[in-house]
Amino acid sequence: MSDQAPKSDEPLDDDPQDDAKQHIHIDPYEKNWIRISIGFLVFFVIMITIAGLALGIQVPTDEGRVDPNTLDTALPWSEPGLREIVPGEEYEVYIVARRFSFDPREITVPVGSKVTFWATSADVQHGFALDGTNVNMMVIPGQVSRLAATFDEPGEYNFICHEYCGLGHAVMYGTLTVEK
Ligand code: CUA
Repeated sequence: MSDQAPKSDEPLDDDPQDDAKQHIHIDPYEKNWIRISIGFLVFFVIMITIAGLALGIQVPTDEGRVDPNTLDTALPWSEPGLREIVPGEEYEVYIVARRFSFDPREITVPVGSKVTFWATSADVQHGFALDGTNVNMMVIPGQVSRLAATFDEPGEYNFICHEYCGLGHAVMYGTLTVEK
């Protein structure tokens, strides 16, 4: 019994919190990977912030709702096409997607224009991707999608449906012409 006596003289060693502190051991390699992982997270948050705020790269958002059954009867969707906001500078296009075409199918704007694309679908889910720009969005019945691009280079820019919507999906495309 006498050899047990010293232990009872040191009650602090039995504190479970002290034990926990002493027994957490993280391998140095693991510690480095934890640091690298946190570093990546911080890096991504910084890059997303720069892309969103400084470069203006943003995910297309739900710009509103529209009843697909009213597209043929209610403005602005009953008259799809180009709207001149500031001549030679700023335009808007209202695009109705339906199996298997875009209305309008051909759009023409002058060089240097900023064009805002508004789109919705009359039937099923479509896509709208415009060559050579960041305009790439889902076109969903009941929802309005919006993205803008500025065209400093004259030429023809094709837009396509990139969401499989049926047998005619492959021929669902159009052209935006930027004139000098
Ligand atoms: Cu519309 Cu694919």
